[in-house]
Amino acid sequence: MLDQDRPKMIQDSRKIAPPAAYVPKSYVQGEEAYRTLYRESVEYPESFWAAVASELTWIKPWETVMEGNFPDFAFFRGGYLNVSENCVDRHALSFRRNKVAIFWEGENGERRIITYLRLHEKVQKFANVLKRFGIQKGDVVSVYMQNLPETFVALLAILRIGAIYNTVFAGFSPEALRERVVDSKAKMVICANRSYRRGRPIPLKENVDRALEGVDTVKTVIVYRRSDEEVPMSPGRDYDWDELMAEAEPICPVEPMEANEPGLLIYTSGTSGKPKGIVHAGGGFLVGTYAYTKYQLDLRDEDVYWNTADIGWLTSHIFVLIGGLALGVTTVLYEGALDYPHPGRLYEMVERYRVNKLFSAPTAYRMLVKNGEELARRYRLSTLELFASVGEPLNPEAWEWVYRVLGGGRAVINNTWGQTETGGTPLAGAPGAVEMKPGSCGVPFYGHTLDVVDGDGNPVPDGTPGFLVIRKPFPSLARDIFGNRQRYVDTYFNVMPGVYFTGDSAIRDEDGHFWVLGRVDDVINVSGHRISTMEMESALIAHPKVVEAAVVGRPDPVKGAVPVAFVILEAGAERGPDLEQELEQWVADEIGSFARPAQVYIVETMPRTRSGKIIRRMLRELIQEGKVQGDTTGLEDFDAVERILENLRGRTGF
Ligand code: PRX
Repeated sequence: MLDQDRPKMIQDSRKIAPPAAYVPKSYVQGEEAYRTLYRESVEYPESFWAAVASELTWIKPWETVMEGNFPDFAFFRGGYLNVSENCVDRHALSFRRNKVAIFWEGENGERRIITYLRLHEKVQKFANVLKRFGIQKGDVVSVYMQNLPETFVALLAILRIGAIYNTVFAGFSPEALRERVVDSKAKMVICANRSYRRGRPIPLKENVDRALEGVDTVKTVIVYRRSDEEVPMSPGRDYDWDELMAEAEPICPVEPMEANEPGLLIYTSGTSGKPKGIVHAGGGFLVGTYAYTKYQLDLRDEDVYWNTADIGWLTSHIFVLIGGLALGVTTVLYEGALDYPHPGRLYEMVERYRVNKLFSAPTAYRMLVKNGEELARRYRLSTLELFASVGEPLNPEAWEWVYRVLGGGRAVINNTWGQTETGGTPLAGAPGAVEMKPGSCGVPFYGHTLDVVDGDGNPVPDGTPGFLVIRKPFPSLARDIFGNRQRYVDTYFNVMPGVYFTGDSAIRDEDGHFWVLGRVDDVINVSGHRISTMEMESALIAHPKVVEAAVVGRPDPVKGAVPVAFVILEAGAERGPDLEQELEQWVADEIGSFARPAQVYIVETMPRTRSGKIIRRMLRELIQEGKVQGDTTGLEDFDAVERILENLRGRTGF
């Protein structure tokens, strides 16, 4: 892709009208309605956000809707509410009280159903357990659990008493947990004794014990017994969840919280240095996630909604725990791997619960593509009317497959763009309103002013790549990096004065759709031509034998940088001796010879984050240094790097 050219991916994109059957179910119908509401929402953001907020329960009304600007801004200042009350009590004390809040399934097939009334009872009791151990407003509690109803209970109970939760993905190592517990000065850790991944038990409690060696801030560990296995318990520090719940008082009033006070904390790996503890305001996060979830998924009382995200990833908090429950929706919660114990597990669950809205990661959709059409046809998937995704490019190839095979050509596909820091998805399709374009991240969300700018911060013409920035604050934007205000200001607001710097590159096309091209660091500059890694990866994935691709730059004395591709093949794909050259040529044919990869490496795995996202930085370090430096605590599978190195041994450069 040349700087001045419109990328082929965008030129080729087709526009698909919102499916006729879906339109009447949408909160905003028709492009004109979207445009009008969007225009009003950015011209009068105070009115827009006040209207959203007034659908929620407040203990004391706010004094001002918006105040200040980056990096010191506030929303609903002086207003008091409680997130847990909005997600639980509001429904448990209404006509929704006997409605299913959670259909839970264990990886081993166990099933449980939790209604809003039950959730209310459990959250109140557990909130009293927290109080019994002296947890108070402002204290940090780490939660190291997989997707379980108890995880939801713990998080909502923490919010109820005004404490701050820090979710730590249950796949993280003891070292990663320790780093997060120490940085956040957590007073308590809540864990399960075991988690399961592809049938393999993961010893969470033992991991906690190792993580806490020498850590003296943590006074209490509460252990939920997911399995009957005995685990070591330290008397005076470790307590059994069930025993505490059996003794707990049933009623716990909510703690009124000012809308800008911190509510939750989640760590994201930086490219260098320590992971950042991203702080979200409870009230701001609630208002924002309520809006994203309502308008981007059109969630309604009759829906059965399954977001497959793990609770260790903010997506689950945005779209399920807080946004989803605030809307009183019925959600499916699943503990394990989506293709375990058989590749049709996800389809089987869609069929069992008649799921009509499915939210998953692009990598999960690509897995479904890999498993083939024939498998999908064995299940009844006709209930599905909306598919959403976030976190990585949803390549046009995967988009088209999901649309045709899973959606039968009558479902909405909504590829959303967001960050842990944005606490939501400022870009997304407007389902039922705006035409869909496979591969794009849709259009700006109400109340958000996004722009694409050059290095000096000036807007670039439509169709030209540049830096994606956000011009005005919005309620769910992170308010701080825990314990490091300066890093917060420097990372997000000092790169380009006056705007929030996303660190992503993007193009806005002539129709106002945004195409996120990748992290700024990932853009490769070959002889002065900027090449989008996303476009190259999409081209590779379009090859019939390729299922996953990651492209990174390797420094080159002549060209500045050259693209190098890592690919994973379809299961059972013939791998002739010339396949790598064939793939190099394929990219050259698809995009242009300037984009021809200098090298294609066929590998069996990729370094991934806990949310399944490929960590391109590590691949870049591998080809540049032969090893991974920097922070590795974000890796889901610690062996991945070793296995890739094995695949590469003996190859050029290794
Ligand atoms: O580079 C963008 C990519 O993921 C980054 C954010 O990652 P994380 O904080 O883990 O996101 C959690 C989501 C709530 C972004 O800076 N990204 C996210 N969505 C997309 C994407 N890249 C391309 N297309 C997307 N739809």
